[in-house]
Amino acid sequence: MEYVLFALIAYLFGSIPSALLVGKIGYNIDIREQGSGNLGATNTFRVLGKKAGIIVTLSDILKGTVAVLLPLLFDAEVNRLVIGIFAVIGHTYPIFAKFKGGKAVATSGGIILGINPILFLIMVSTFLITLYITKYVSLSSMITGVISVIISIFFKDVGLIIVISLLTIFVFYRHRENIKRIRKGTEPKIKWM
Ligand code: G3P
Repeated sequence: MEYVLFALIAYLFGSIPSALLVGKIGYNIDIREQGSGNLGATNTFRVLGKKAGIIVTLSDILKGTVAVLLPLLFDAEVNRLVIGIFAVIGHTYPIFAKFKGGKAVATSGGIILGINPILFLIMVSTFLITLYITKYVSLSSMITGVISVIISIFFKDVGLIIVISLLTIFVFYRHRENIKRIRKGTEPKIKWM
């Protein structure tokens, strides 16, 4: 029963469409109709600028972190990584936004922040270095996923390795269109780094 309850809370939390809310409330813009149309931090940076982008990045990360910290707070005997997966499902298939959400990156990062902050810091550093070099957010997200699978092996936690591997596969799946665009050379590069 605890599993169902915390998984449901995680899903609902993950479903909060930060990018949609920030766009509509702060700018009267539906970001689903602009840029890549994705309800994520990258498209928010692209369409609404740095301030909105940072707010959405932090909110999307926080959704994953809160989802895995809640069971700890209530001493629930659940696997918090499994609960975290439901926050990512909420973020990508949000009940509050017609099941069309983001690409799983920030919320997955949020889960790791709540479970293993050191690994999270390694992931953020990997992401920023890759982004600086490639200027592609999508490619940097996928490379960070692969690197975090490798790094997770050093923590000798089988559950962590499995969940990070699954999340990375899911991140690749959600970036199918980006992969096509990168191959064609039409994926937009960031201009602010
Ligand atoms: O993580 C999302 C990002 O990698 C791609 O977003 O809007 O460029 O498709 P977007």
